[in-house]
Amino acid sequence: MNNLLKGKRGIIFGALDQKSIAWKTALKAREQGASFTLTNAPIAIRMGAINDLAKACDAEVIAADATSIEDLTALFQQSMEVLGGKLDFVLHSIGMSPNVRKKKPYGDLNYEWFQKTLDISAISFHKVLQTAEKTDAMNEWGSVLGLSYIAAQRAYPDYSDMAQAKAVLESIARSYGQRFGRLKKVRVNTISQSPTVTTAGEGVGGFDVFLDYAEMMSPLGNASAEDCANYCVLMFSDLSRMVTMQNLMHDGGFSTSGITEELVEKLSKG
Ligand SMILES: NC(=O)c1ccc[n+]([C@@H]2O[C@H](COP(=O)([O-])OP(=O)(O)OC[C@H]3O[C@@H](n4cnc5c(N)ncnc54)[C@H](O)[C@@H]3O)[C@@H](O)[C@H]2O)c1
Repeated sequence: MNNLLKGKRGIIFGALDQKSIAWKTALKAREQGASFTLTNAPIAIRMGAINDLAKACDAEVIAADATSIEDLTALFQQSMEVLGGKLDFVLHSIGMSPNVRKKKPYGDLNYEWFQKTLDISAISFHKVLQTAEKTDAMNEWGSVLGLSYIAAQRAYPDYSDMAQAKAVLESIARSYGQRFGRLKKVRVNTISQSPTVTTAGEGVGGFDVFLDYAEMMSPLGNASAEDCANYCVLMFSDLSRMVTMQNLMHDGGFSTSGITEELVEKLSKG
């Protein structure tokens, strides 16, 4: 299908490198006719490769720390100026936990870092939504997406305080979705993605095992970053206009599998 996003304008957060889910989403969104600005934290812009992506997508890069209301306000205002109008979609593809990064055991969390995890990975989603509302940046039927993980619902030992962040993120999608829907028919959802090989993903301890286990537990296999990008495009398009306040499982069937034949075979002793 072509031109699903023709004439639509947006902001894409979180493209660090070629592996990033946001990177793949930007390429797909462009392919489908969208125009958008790209943004990331200043340090990620310096260390990453976002300018290559910007060239490929004919997009402007605007630095913003997603925890800063000042940065976000400037980002939304500049994006409307650069793109020539209000926005139709926003992708929040942001996650970081200092406790995970520094391998703190869950029974010995640093609480300042815990606050940072929540601020960067979850509360920033509220800040993005609130700034979009206050700058009156969204068109009617616009679509705002965050990216989540099933550790919001189930315990995974090494996902640590990111599990709490994802639970908050999903809850914000419901609460703000209710508000923004009534105010302006703007849709807010999270996509709960399979484990995916990216910088954020690989930072989680035991990631390879996660990946293999999820692959065996998913009848369709793990959803790739590219699959996720396609789903984001669908969620930005008018084809999904009545979907809001949802956490959408994008996991090849993982979340509703009890056990699979593949795992039974692997684990059977006979
Ligand atoms: N990779 C996985 O296994 C997986 C699975 C489910 C959900 N997700 C989620 O997908 C999203 C994207 O992650 P990814 O896997 O593409 O990894 P990634 O490392 O490529 O992307 C994470 C992004 O967050 C950005 N970021 C961190 N702090 C920021 C700040 N203060 N302000 C603005 N941006 C900031 C980083 O610069 C980076 O671009 C995250 O929310 C992640 O939790 C990932």
